[in-house]
Amino acid sequence: MARERGPDGPAAYNRRSNGKTEEPPVSVEPQSAPAIENLLSENRTFPPSAEFAAQANARASLYEEAERDFVGFWERQARERISWDTPFTTGLEWDLPFAKWFGGGTLNITYNCVDRHVERGLGDKIAYHWVGEPGDIRTLTYADLMRESSKAANALKALGVRTGDRVAIYLPMIPELPIAMLACARIGAPHTVVFGGFSAEALSDRINDCGAKLIITADGGWRRGKEVLLKPAADAAAAAAPSIENILVVSRLGAGEPHAGTAMTAGRDHWWHELVDGQSETCPPVPVDSEHMLYLLYTSGTTAKPKGILHTTAGYLVGTSFTHEMIFDIKPDDVYWCAADIGWVTGHSYIVYGPLANATTGVIYEGAPDTPGWDRFWQIVEDYKVTILYTAPTAIRAFMKQGPEFPAKHDLSSLRLLGSVGEPINPEAWLWYQQVIGAGRTPVVDTWWQTETGMILITPLPGVTTTKPGSATFPFPGISADVVDTDGNSVPFGGGGYLVLKRPWPAMLRGIYGDPERFKQTYWSRFPGMYFAGDGAKRDEEGYFWLLGRVDDVMNVAGHRMSTTEIESALVSHPSVAESAVVGKNDELTGQAVFAFVILKAGQEPSDELAKTLREHVSKMISPIARPKFLLFVPDLPKTRSGKIMRRLLRDIAEGRNLGDTTTLADTGVVETIRDNTGRAED
Ligand code: WT7
Repeated sequence: MARERGPDGPAAYNRRSNGKTEEPPVSVEPQSAPAIENLLSENRTFPPSAEFAAQANARASLYEEAERDFVGFWERQARERISWDTPFTTGLEWDLPFAKWFGGGTLNITYNCVDRHVERGLGDKIAYHWVGEPGDIRTLTYADLMRESSKAANALKALGVRTGDRVAIYLPMIPELPIAMLACARIGAPHTVVFGGFSAEALSDRINDCGAKLIITADGGWRRGKEVLLKPAADAAAAAAPSIENILVVSRLGAGEPHAGTAMTAGRDHWWHELVDGQSETCPPVPVDSEHMLYLLYTSGTTAKPKGILHTTAGYLVGTSFTHEMIFDIKPDDVYWCAADIGWVTGHSYIVYGPLANATTGVIYEGAPDTPGWDRFWQIVEDYKVTILYTAPTAIRAFMKQGPEFPAKHDLSSLRLLGSVGEPINPEAWLWYQQVIGAGRTPVVDTWWQTETGMILITPLPGVTTTKPGSATFPFPGISADVVDTDGNSVPFGGGGYLVLKRPWPAMLRGIYGDPERFKQTYWSRFPGMYFAGDGAKRDEEGYFWLLGRVDDVMNVAGHRMSTTEIESALVSHPSVAESAVVGKNDELTGQAVFAFVILKAGQEPSDELAKTLREHVSKMISPIARPKFLLFVPDLPKTRSGKIMRRLLRDIAEGRNLGDTTTLADTGVVETIRDNTGRAED
């Protein structure tokens, strides 16, 4: 599940822990900080089973092959995995920080993701099992995807969309979402998918930044048993976005009929089922240059200028398809479920392009994990015999909190591999996932990457890597990652610092749309010659990478740099704790003090006694310096609609500051409840 960047607050508070730093992080860091201290140690190891290793796609030799010649390594993948219209002539052109991969080549990504599979006889293979929240289902084969995306591409052409024109997609998790993306890519029109939970303002900001001509939206979708309307927001966005010429509207709530509650503007708005369904079923895929813009995905909140992360075609396809096949060990008969929203990069790379390029059978679920009950995911796993599940730590912790009786009601024996993405996973959540969901059999891949990286960069290779709960382990073959100190010097194993990437990779962002200066400033100026990811990391004595959250998650308590993530993991490892969020609160004596927000498991009662126990627990697990000075039991935490804890707000609460814009929160009431109780937190 991708991270939603919260709204931009005042500049001073513009460092959000679980989102990204909008501006170059240079100014927010102490000039000569010691390395982040490595306090929490997790020593349990999980070597691959012999059975899994014997059948695994990945081999340890990939690392050596890639180290010998990393460009040649990616070139081989590009030759073997892609159907080219014109073969590429150069591997990498690197004019730091601007990369071009597979120059001279032309291709069409939709041809690679759909048509070629149909041509080789896989037309009847299921591309997606789609499950609507109310219980309706749709099954799309590769032949269906080819036909539907061709018709949709013809409809785009009928609306005047040409190669290079931008199209905004604002849809719920329905089959028309991947179909619309493929339709755009079929004719070389870059898409920008805007998460359906975003406001009209967020949508118009993004449209205005890229000058999109068309919005593809729906009357609405289903969430927690309720209709959520989308068309009114699309209308409001269009009113504020002069580049919009048309709106194409899928009837989701109307189930394929004009939906009574949806206003349509004559001449501008068109129902999908009227315009698309009448189109020809053939539409030749347009070959584009390797570096043709495939899509933009915006990463900032609603009040500052959004940052359009630009991805191109060939390198992105190579990177996503290869990592997908290796990291998820994809076999022809797998049923693969990435439970992210397609509105985030995880969905782009690992629901749409990577899996389809590998002719994978996938599952897409429209709705919430607790609807109608907390066993909805496990029901879907059982129904479709899902073999691979990829989800986020926030979801895993929510399942943990509900208790093991929900998964226990279902047959999960089809699962053979589990993945995690989006934030550091606490060892306790990792173990719960592996043991309760995976019955102790499944490898767990904790995958680190970003919207900007396009593809997974730090991850175990299942069948090869011995994992440790909470560690993303090692860089993927061909990737050069390092942990550096404030001067950019590599920190020896055992120490912590800043995560950087030292060579280009095929799916990397090519820029920020329309703003090369901001691109250089944000990612390439902090450590010259290196990509600065904005994350803290440490390596243990064996070189395993442990992601420590955004660098602004790092606190400095009495001169000790500590990761909020480590303290959260320590709290969550206590049997009475379901979830926690830790922020730094300014402190006269120690610089910063640890402020912990704690959600208890069902049946646990908050008490001073328990608060004391938890403080002692952290002292014991990490160090007395990590002991929370403030500890507040809360019924819930402020989260974005995509499930990220908004630590920026928690910091504001901890500091007693005025709260900024809270409109991107899933539940704005949570904040008030917490704020009204902060007086009781101090030890
Ligand atoms: C940030 C990127 C990659 C798709 C979802 C998020 C954090 C992501 C992990 C992980 C620790 C992780 C980082 C990163 N992150 N995966 N496995 N372990 N942290 O995409 O919104 O671009 O956010 O998410 O802080 O920088 P995004």
